[in-house]
Amino acid sequence: MGLRGAGLEINPFLVWFSSVKFRHFSPATIEKARSLGAVIAVASSADGAPSVEPPPIHNVERWWNDAELRFLCRLKKCILDTSDEGTDERDLLLVAFCRVVIALSNAAFNHQSMSFKTTHEAPQLFAFTRDNADVFRKELTLVLDGAADNPRIEPSVVTGDAREPSRFLHDRFDMLITSPPYPNRISYIRELRPYMYWLGFLTNGRDAGEYDWQAIGGTWGVATSRLTDWKPSGKAFTPPDLKKALAGIADPKNDNGSLLANYVAKYFEDMWRHLSDIGTVLTEEAEVHYVVGNSTFYGTLLPVEAIFKSMLQEAGFHDVEIVKIRKRNSKAELFEFDVTGKKNQPTIHPTVREDRRSEARRSSRR
Ligand SMILES: C[S@@+](CC[C@H](N)C(=O)[O-])C[C@H]1O[C@@H](n2cnc3c(N)ncnc32)[C@H](O)[C@@H]1O
Repeated sequence: MGLRGAGLEINPFLVWFSSVKFRHFSPATIEKARSLGAVIAVASSADGAPSVEPPPIHNVERWWNDAELRFLCRLKKCILDTSDEGTDERDLLLVAFCRVVIALSNAAFNHQSMSFKTTHEAPQLFAFTRDNADVFRKELTLVLDGAADNPRIEPSVVTGDAREPSRFLHDRFDMLITSPPYPNRISYIRELRPYMYWLGFLTNGRDAGEYDWQAIGGTWGVATSRLTDWKPSGKAFTPPDLKKALAGIADPKNDNGSLLANYVAKYFEDMWRHLSDIGTVLTEEAEVHYVVGNSTFYGTLLPVEAIFKSMLQEAGFHDVEIVKIRKRNSKAELFEFDVTGKKNQPTIHPTVREDRRSEARRSSRR
């Protein structure tokens, strides 16, 4: 829409990926990537073509069957040999590569979190052999068509920790929109592992757990054992809804109840750090939108939206409201909400504000 924007993200792979999505690509760059891709597709099909080592991901054979794994090793080598380091073409080819990594894998993403397809299916009447190079061609076409649809202004993405926004962002923003991690035990590292290992952002399982521990809401690998020993700092604002839910989750009759209560308490302590600092990088008229989902633990409903509302109010935001956006696919009581607020009480009359907004919308259409 031609509006200036910036993102703050802790995961280096996602920073790279969003920087590619945000970039402006010239028609010449896209054409160059297309012609390199055509050469790469042919070269990587040959069985004896040079290849890189398979990624050091645990149980690699569970992720890819032998033929697919060997093809991916050749494809990556070919991309590295054919394109120059640091170029836009290489980035586009690598995004297509990421899509092929998943297209050829045994991973299934039809649930809330990733699982594996059963690989030993019954033999079929007509044997189906997939042309892996063709998969690459198709994915590259899709990526290049998307890349041609350029943003009007390149947004920026900053590597940093949203618990301390003022440390990483040195600008003032009039609108904040985010879908932060939810307290629902989704691990972004777990989901993103295949890309991160193939592109060299991860080289071992220990670092994967370490990254997850740094992320808000991570509970994977080493993050789980650290949560067991985690103690609240005592500095975070804890609204009554949160206290009540923590007591319900920690009930001794719940196996792992105290671990999960720690998980939830740490999640909100991290969010409190974010919410109590974010005002520093917002203009006086700024509006915030936190898109969050609620969750349940052992039948205890965690009213995430209400806790965000109390925290925003405690952090000094005004006109804080909860808007129910949609139902989640899973349990009946789970929804997604937009928790909104304003940094300061409106100082201009609402009709003047609406006039200004309509003007902004008109000029963005122009
Ligand atoms: C549901 S996704 C949404 C991403 C999207 N950029 C947005 O804000 O709507 C949540 C993202 O938060 C990132 N994240 C987790 N902990 C973070 C932290 N401490 N600082 C910055 N980003 C973090 C995760 O890596 C993940 O990409």
